[in-house]
Order: sequence, then structure tokens, then C-alpha cells
Amino acid sequence: MSRRKLDVDRTRERLLGLGLAHAADQLEPLLSEGVKEGHAPHAVLDALLDAEHQARESRRVRTALRLSTLPTGHTLADFDFAFQPAIERSRIDTLATCAFIRATETVLIQGPPGVGKTHLAIGLGVKAVELGFSAQFYRFDELKLQLKADAHLPPARLRRRKYLSTALLIIDELGFEPMTRDEASLFFRLVTYRYGRGAILITTNKSVRDWTELLAGDEALAAAILDRLLHKAHVLNIKGRSYRLRDLEATLGAARN
Ligand SMILES: Nc1ncnc2c1ncn2[C@@H]1O[C@H](COP(=O)(O)OP(=O)(O)OP(=O)(O)O)[C@@H](O)[C@H]1O
Ligand SMILES: [Mg+2]
Repeated sequence: MSRRKLDVDRTRERLLGLGLAHAADQLEPLLSEGVKEGHAPHAVLDALLDAEHQARESRRVRTALRLSTLPTGHTLADFDFAFQPAIERSRIDTLATCAFIRATETVLIQGPPGVGKTHLAIGLGVKAVELGFSAQFYRFDELKLQLKADAHLPPARLRRRKYLSTALLIIDELGFEPMTRDEASLFFRLVTYRYGRGAILITTNKSVRDWTELLAGDEALAAAILDRLLHKAHVLNIKGRSYRLRDLEATLGAARN
């Protein structure tokens, strides 16, 4: 027993020396379990490597989520599809494979307040990060400020900006306020740069019909932006009830009956 103990200590140190801290942690319990349950040696080894892999993976996801500026607390798993029948679950499942990111496509989520646009956008962003893509989340007004601040950067420095370099750019709440002409042309520059290079996910309460008005009334600019965005796009039109108001609806409904 003491001999085995000694060997285990040495093995643990070797694992630590190789930077496999989680495997080192799990060595003793996994070996004991393996002996007790009569597991094959390769099964114990596999469990050990799996422990290391899983711990690294969850650390990677945690760090990447922090860097992505995705708001916390919303995932696809806690989205109630039964409440919003306008959203086909299969479409979200397809988007959640993130094939649209690989293909640098656009996702446009439209709908009135409270129907879950931001929630879905964040959920898809989290999924992207879990699958190893970089993602950045901006409310449009924040992005607008950044674009303005960077308006005069030389191209080489501009390209390093996260809103250009990230695999998935999420723009939440486009369309609350109309843009000025300068803002609209900065937005055009962003869309043009990312076209064919990176995916964009936009949530908005405006329908495509209202985009000209949104883009400083410039029809040509709106057409040029929409042409790029909608070339390869997944449009989710959520015509549903507000999740925020569901309790109120329930209370009013109860009062009426
Ligand atoms: N189907 C749903 N299942 C679970 N939670 C939901 C669902 N729809 C919305 N919610 C929750 O309701 C709140 C409002 O949703 P969300 O912020 O996604 O709405 P929105 O469509 O972005 O609205 P707005 O246009 O006002 O920004 C959030 O807390 C969100 O998590
Ligand atoms: Mg929202």
C-alpha cells in the first residue's frame, strides 16, 4: 500500500510538472474508484484525461464569456419556447449549431418589446463561445459611440477592433433612434467590412421597411446596407406577446374572470 502511495505521489508530481493540474487532483480518487470498481486501466486513464479536458474547457468558456461582454444569465436552455410559439424551436436549434458563423451569415431578429429578442441573441452568443467562436455583444448605442470614437483610426488599427475582428458581432437594439448621416455611414462601413468576413446578429424593433428612415432617410445607403446584410440572412420575425407583461396579463385575466 505504501509503495503504491509513493508511486501515486510521483505520478501526481509528474502530472503537475506537465501542467495537468486537474488530472493531478483527480488521480487519487479516480485510481481508488478504478480499483474498487474493477475498471480497466485504459478506462481510468481516459477518465483522468477527461477530467483535465473538462476543467480546461470550462475555464476557457468562462474566460471567453467574460471577454465577449455578453450579459450573463440568459441561455437558450432557459428560453421558454412554449410561451412564444412564433419562434420555431428547430430554427433556433439550427442557428445554435453556429453554421451561420462559419458561413459569415446574418441573423436578424425582429419584433416588438419583450418577446425575447435580446434573450435569444445572448443565448446564441453563449452557444457560439461554447463552440469556440469569439463573440462580442454591443447595444447599438454603445457601438455607435465606439464607431464615432474610432472614425479616424488608420485601417490597420481599426481592423484590430473587436467589432471588426470577432467571429460573431451581436448588435442589440438597433433602431431605437434614427441615425445621423455620419452614424449611418459609419454603420455602412462596419457592415461592408464584415461582409464575407464575419457573422452579424442584429436585434431590432423595426421592420426592414423602416430602415431607410432609420438610416438618416438615405435610400441608397439603406439599400446598400440591406443588400449586404440580407444576402445570406436568417430572419426571425417574432410576432408574439411580451414576456415581461405575462404576469400583468395573468393578473388582468384573473380580474376579468
Ligand atoms: N420565451 C421566453 N422564455 C423565457 N424568458 C423570456 C422569454 N421571452 C422573454 N423572456 C425574458 O423576458 C425579459 C425580456 O426579454 P428580452 O429582453 O429578450 O426582450 P426583447 O425582445 O429584447 O425586448 P426589447 O425590444 O424591449 O429589448 C428577459 O428577462 C427575458 O429573459
Ligand atoms: Mg432587447
